Amino acid sequence: MTIQVFENEEQVALAGAALIAAELLQDPYTVLGLPTGSTPIGIYRELIRMFENGVISFAEASAFNLDEYIGLEPDHEQSYSYFLHSNFIDHVNFRAENIRLVQGIAVNANEECEQYEQEITDAGGIDLQLLGIGRNGHIGFNEPAAWFEKTTHVVDLAADTIAANSRFFANEDEVPRQAISMGIGTIMDAEKIVLAATGSSKAEAIRAMCKGRIDPACQASILQIHPNVTILLDPAAAALI
Ligand code: F6R
Repeated sequence: MTIQVFENEEQVALAGAALIAAELLQDPYTVLGLPTGSTPIGIYRELIRMFENGVISFAEASAFNLDEYIGLEPDHEQSYSYFLHSNFIDHVNFRAENIRLVQGIAVNANEECEQYEQEITDAGGIDLQLLGIGRNGHIGFNEPAAWFEKTTHVVDLAADTIAANSRFFANEDEVPRQAISMGIGTIMDAEKIVLAATGSSKAEAIRAMCKGRIDPACQASILQIHPNVTILLDPAAAALI
């Protein structure tokens, strides 16, 4: 686990974008794993800027998303599909056929999970998985539990996560109660992982992830045994390590 602490949130975003750009320059066929949330927005903004300046291209790259709410149409403003399209995908030159976003409105969510996992395998696995982290240490929607879930699966969202995400909805009742998430095994299979976190609300989760025991109560703690993880932090998120 390589931990880098930057001066501020903007520097974290530039560093995250630089790692992804480096990957794309080395391998134009890179398979990316993409998160939503507030943390990656700056990274996506910088990647768009690099694309517009001709530094990088996504023409041969492909992407899978980390998770999605169950019950939201892809064009619902709070769906993760909508988020990724409007904050990133639609502003660069991915080919439509190289984008696979897990469907939260699939008729059979469990079948969608199996199909999604298979498609990741068929694509040769994720080369670079970008991650944020929840205040409770979740990665994707892998919530604190008694075990680590291996593959893409249906999740009941934790009360803490529903409360944290309610800021994007009219009220807490509108936040979906379930989601589909890549499993911890899916994430751990990625060749490289870049996790970004900023702000004091993430400090305890970062401490548990980096310094705590590997324990499913902090799902991100398993990243300690991934061979290629880079953690990008601002001083507030790094305050307890
Ligand atoms: C997003 C995701 C979540 C977020 C985490 C942090 O696809 O899976 O694990 O990365 O909840 O969210 P933000 O960045 O909004 O603090």
